Amino acid sequence: MKTLLRTLASLLLLAGLAALATVVWARHTGGFSARTTPSFLETALARYARSLAIPASAKSLPNPIVDSPQVQHEAMAHYADHCASCHANDGSGDTMYGNGLYPKPPDLRLAATQNLSDGELFFIIQNGVRLTGMPAFGAPNDEGSESWKLVRFLRHLPKITPTEVEEMNGMNPKSPDELQEEKQEQEFLNGSPAAR
Ligand code: HEC
Repeated sequence: MKTLLRTLASLLLLAGLAALATVVWARHTGGFSARTTPSFLETALARYARSLAIPASAKSLPNPIVDSPQVQHEAMAHYADHCASCHANDGSGDTMYGNGLYPKPPDLRLAATQNLSDGELFFIIQNGVRLTGMPAFGAPNDEGSESWKLVRFLRHLPKITPTEVEEMNGMNPKSPDELQEEKQEQEFLNGSPAAR
């Protein structure tokens, strides 16, 4: 009985010390603020853990969608609508939401992302990444053709042109205020009396 109590007391003490260490560490490294950027070590460990969590069978899945200009265009519109708010039209991740997340969305054009297999990219889009801002876009049991098309578009991102980015600006979600503003601008350009 005495040993049990002693063990319990030591465990409680250890848990207390661990909690204290976490608080001291968190305060030292910027609290629980999402404004900071994870350290190199934290990013490397998180990516390694994520890689281990993706089944090998999923990683080696080939993309069943054949690439074509139409597939690229559909996926571009889908990306501009659902992904660009965090990842930016050019894939840089330099957006208001992206910059406020911890971890931040990586630059999708760089080797770290482009070296992931098609199956891995697909798995990440379908299932999201727990404890990060990356949402799961797949519905249970859906075969994921939209996500496979997005994988095709992600492969195009390193070569995206300013003209394509400009086209995507027109495909990004708009707030009612922005829509109203655009309408007024258009009316003004058309010389409508309502806008004068
Ligand atoms: C709400 C913000 C948000 C949205 C919307 C979002 N993502 Fe992400 N995404 C993230 C974050 C944050 C990460 C980093 C996850 C990590 O560190 O493991 C990420 C990671 C990824 C990765 C992994 C890249 C890598 O190298 O680790 C891919 C691929 C990706 N997103 C694709 C997409 C696609 C495609 C869409 C749209 C269908 C999308 N994301 C929408 C926030 C977002």
